[in-house]
Amino acid sequence: MKELFIADLANFENQVITGFFAVSSRYDRSKRDGARYFALILTDRTGQMEARMWETADAGDFTSGDVVKVRGQVCRYKEFLQLNVEKIRRANPGEFDLGDYVPRTERDVDELWSDLNGYVESFTDPYLKALLRSFLDDPETAAGLREAPAAKSMHHAWIGGLLEHIVSLLGLADLAAKHYGVHRDLLLTGVVLHDIGKLQELRWGTSFEYTVQGQLLGHIVIGIGLIERKIAAIPGFPPELRMLVEHLVLSHHGKYEFGSPKLPMIPEAVLLHYLDDIDAKMQTVRSEFARHTTAGRAPAELTDWVRSLERPLLNTAPFLALNGQTNTDQDQKEEPKEEAANGVIPAED
Ligand SMILES: [Fe+2]
Ligand SMILES: [Fe+2]
Repeated sequence: MKELFIADLANFENQVITGFFAVSSRYDRSKRDGARYFALILTDRTGQMEARMWETADAGDFTSGDVVKVRGQVCRYKEFLQLNVEKIRRANPGEFDLGDYVPRTERDVDELWSDLNGYVESFTDPYLKALLRSFLDDPETAAGLREAPAAKSMHHAWIGGLLEHIVSLLGLADLAAKHYGVHRDLLLTGVVLHDIGKLQELRWGTSFEYTVQGQLLGHIVIGIGLIERKIAAIPGFPPELRMLVEHLVLSHHGKYEFGSPKLPMIPEAVLLHYLDDIDAKMQTVRSEFARHTTAGRAPAELTDWVRSLERPLLNTAPFLALNGQTNTDQDQKEEPKEEAANGVIPAED
């Protein structure tokens, strides 16, 4: 149904295209002479693109969250591709398939789900295992976990992103627990539950938004509430263990100014905070390189300023390739995973 995706628009520079996109935001602005124009962000599952509509007189009634049919010219503004919209209208329900507009994990969700369950199966602590099973066996939680994005926009902001983030972190945490000799099941429980409140903090349609509950309470407080209810239903759950699980969730943002009411004070909480940060940052790095290429920029060039990391980034492999050098690290990455046992954590696939 959808024929033209944002990731392909770099091939249409200076051409007029017609296609269907979701409106992720719409701002009504005025030029210096007072004339109104629309600044839009158009998205689909392959990426997002800025658009401007200078003549707003015939603009139909559309708002953010709508899928629209657009005709416009693909232009370049300050090195970035931008669409100059000539015509726009809200799409009719039969004209689009929602799955084309929401970014979605490229991983197989069933495989991620079975990886997650495999880790829980390997637990030796019966209470922590029972706690995680009570979440994973709850049909509503399971359905939410298979779909939820990990964030509105910062990292893993796509359908299945939270599950992908959790499974990636489980791999890191498993290695780190052995390496530092900490309580493995406790750390892994923190990994699975640290952002569980996001199932209620966020809602996802053609775009990802905060719920009212998410705005007023936030995922840490929501998560603690969910955990307390599950633990209350597990007979004999040790109160000390409950306190440590709750501490992991409460402190995972690592700093008061990032919304954690407590700083990480047990080894597992210190690890959880830093591993969570690494996984989010590395995913941001990957997404920025993808966005850079989608915007029609040369892969070997520095990216634009990345606001969340407060710096531009350079993609090593294309940079070295452009300068006639091969990336020997990349060749070594083909080695079997035993490398990890030597304290070298391989990059995610
Ligand atoms: Fe969080
Ligand atoms: Fe996280």
